Amino acid sequence: MALLEVDDVVVRFGGVTAVNRATFTADRGQITGLIGPNGAGKTTCFNVITGLQRPTKGKVRYRERDVTGWPVHKRAKHGVGRTFQRLEAFGSLSVRDNVRVAHEIHGGPLAWFGRSRTNIEALLDRVGIRDYADERADSIPTGTARLLELARCLASDPKLLLLDEPSSGLDETETDAFGELLVELAAEGCAVLMVEHDMDLVMGVCDEIHVLDFGEIIASGAPAAIRSDPKVQRAYLGYSDDDADAGRDSDTSVIEAVTS
Ligand SMILES: Nc1ncnc2c1ncn2[C@@H]1O[C@H](COP(=O)(O)OP(=O)(O)OP(=O)(O)O)[C@@H](O)[C@H]1O
Ligand SMILES: [Mg+2]
Repeated sequence: MALLEVDDVVVRFGGVTAVNRATFTADRGQITGLIGPNGAGKTTCFNVITGLQRPTKGKVRYRERDVTGWPVHKRAKHGVGRTFQRLEAFGSLSVRDNVRVAHEIHGGPLAWFGRSRTNIEALLDRVGIRDYADERADSIPTGTARLLELARCLASDPKLLLLDEPSSGLDETETDAFGELLVELAAEGCAVLMVEHDMDLVMGVCDEIHVLDFGEIIASGAPAAIRSDPKVQRAYLGYSDDDADAGRDSDTSVIEAVTS
């Protein structure tokens, strides 16, 4: 059984069906991508998995238990960690203290008395933000703030790591390093589930990808299969390789990202 199972989840906001019978999994040792056009329901799925949003229907199972009714903090305590699309660090604290606080909130007494095994300096180093350790979190570049968000999340030693658009604001070198770090985390046994618009990153590191469109999973599979899936191409481009004379005047950068 996979570490995380999202089973037939529906989320309605009034008349809007944000997620429609979504079923997918994420497992230990794997990087799973959740992709789809703007408004497809990706963040809403994350909210359902972390407990911020109660599904209208369906279930979330984590470590073989039905956690659909569990509050956010209980899931976090059991190893569900997430980063947010909007940055959430404490602006007036230093980068180091932000990571320390995240660690203490999660770690309890062991962390407060400095007895936990998590080494904050090593974590800052690993994520690549040690040079900014003493800076206030509200004074660092966006890319660094994203990495801080990841470090805060890793400070809680998650078993399931949910990343919502983690690479936005990172430059190419930072994105490459970030991808390598995700591969390492997965190799250590973490289940990584990532919402991401950078297709090179998604196609480069994901073991499996689920594609959402208007709240529905329209395709699931390995990167190569997703890239050549006509349904996915239509969702992103408005047409697929299979469509004979479709409008070729769409956004070519997106076309290249999905099909190249
Ligand atoms: N709290 C809410 N109340 C009403 N509608 C909502 C709410 N949250 C999300 N929605 C709607 O649900 C749909 C899915 O939104 P969601 O934020 O999950 O999409 P997304 O795939 O994360 O998009 P993006 O790529 O832009 O971040 C959208 O139509 C959005 O407007
Ligand atoms: Mg979103």
